[in-house]
Amino acid sequence: MGTITAKPHGGGRKAAIRGKQVSKLKSLLRRCPDATIEQVREHLGDVTSATVCRTLNRIGWTLKTARYKQTERGVFRSPFCNPVFTTKCGRLYEADCMQILPRLPDGSAAMVFADPPFNLGKMYGPKSRDRRPEQEYIRWCQSWLRECVRVLRVGGSLFLFHVPKMAMQLGSYLVNDHLRLLNWIAIDYNLGVAIPNRLTPRHYALLYFAKGIRQRSTSYATRSRHAATVGKM
Ligand SMILES: C[S@@+](CC[C@H](N)C(=O)[O-])C[C@H]1O[C@@H](n2cnc3c(N)ncnc32)[C@H](O)[C@@H]1O
Repeated sequence: MGTITAKPHGGGRKAAIRGKQVSKLKSLLRRCPDATIEQVREHLGDVTSATVCRTLNRIGWTLKTARYKQTERGVFRSPFCNPVFTTKCGRLYEADCMQILPRLPDGSAAMVFADPPFNLGKMYGPKSRDRRPEQEYIRWCQSWLRECVRVLRVGGSLFLFHVPKMAMQLGSYLVNDHLRLLNWIAIDYNLGVAIPNRLTPRHYALLYFAKGIRQRSTSYATRSRHAATVGKM
């Protein structure tokens, strides 16, 4: 006679999604926010639709319940994905960029313009954190820039506005990530804050990149061929 070990949940499907499975679920949701319950079940293995739904509620995702009942498949979206303003030209989101960007499809943006906090200790609201150790700040910028490059379509343009020191570091990161630097535009800025033992900055950098092969229809360089490369603030 051998030993019989009781199977979890009487041998049925798992009643809860925990630990690594939750991370796996979250990563799927980031990549495919429109995944169906059925797709989630396939991805996670041995779980029921009810378990998936309970877990989605627990981790703060909402279900479009009516549709779920109708089709048993249900499309769900994150509450963060609701735009605050919508027109026929597009949608405006107001949230942490890392809650929105990972949910946008690859190649869905014609242009990205980034004017991020410069890590100078400014207050941008209760949740802002504009004074981080330099390497942590760079890693944070790289995380949202990586997403920007992913959502940018081939032929699209990416603009990054920053202080020259960070423009150098983030610019070199971007050049290694499928982007071509078209122009370093110097924005004339006379109100630079004095920094001890250094020259007072008198310009900001506006880096202008294109993704992949240039396509005339979306390349801003072709439209502003005669524009000066020195701007004024
Ligand atoms: C240098 S200001 C840019 C201002 C903007 N260009 C304008 O004209 O209003 C940086 C902006 O980034 C926003 N911000 C800070 N952290 C953010 C985050 N994690 N996700 C999205 N926006 C953020 C701040 O609220 C602030 O409005």
